[in-house]
Amino acid sequence: PECKLQLVRDHIRPYQDFPKKGILFRDICPILKDPAALTAVIDLFEEEVRRNYQTVELIVGLDARGFLFGPLLAQRLGVGFILVRKKGKLPGTTLSVEYNLEYGKAEVEIQEDAVAPGQKVLLIDDLLATGGTLFAACELMKKQQAEVLGCMVVIELKELNGKDKLKPQSIFSLVQY
Ligand code: PRP
Repeated sequence: PECKLQLVRDHIRPYQDFPKKGILFRDICPILKDPAALTAVIDLFEEEVRRNYQTVELIVGLDARGFLFGPLLAQRLGVGFILVRKKGKLPGTTLSVEYNLEYGKAEVEIQEDAVAPGQKVLLIDDLLATGGTLFAACELMKKQQAEVLGCMVVIELKELNGKDKLKPQSIFSLVQY
């Protein structure tokens, strides 16, 4: 696992001042470009699921980069994948939850029949920053009475304390900064 983790770490590229001045952006594109690094991410997630979340029934991916890793993991586990999207992208009856951004508000949405009451779900995204996005996604799951087993991300930015915001939800991350 240590060398898989190193491979993942080596394929995260920092960009200074993106998307605005003062922000150090951690880009996961090099992971996707390298089959071994992408396999390492999915292997490490799979190992964590087999350790701690064997009862998972559904993987829930967050818009947009959760969609890159989520389906691969779901397929590996032999479970389904559903999408939490930014508002206005999904057809049919939807449920939404509003959350705060640094400036203004955003809203995430699922299709009403995406998850059934009592289903055991795991949320997945590329990165945990303030935790606002994952928190809103967890709220959506609660609205549908799904059981959130935990959240998994490739990268955790520790200084933003996203874990505290998500408590008591368990958060698993591969790489921390
Ligand atoms: C980024 C990232 C997470 C979220 C984390 O997405 O991919 O989804 O921010 O931030 P938080 O923990 O403070 O909520 P972004 O908002 O850039 O949207 P995108 O994936 O559509 O580019």
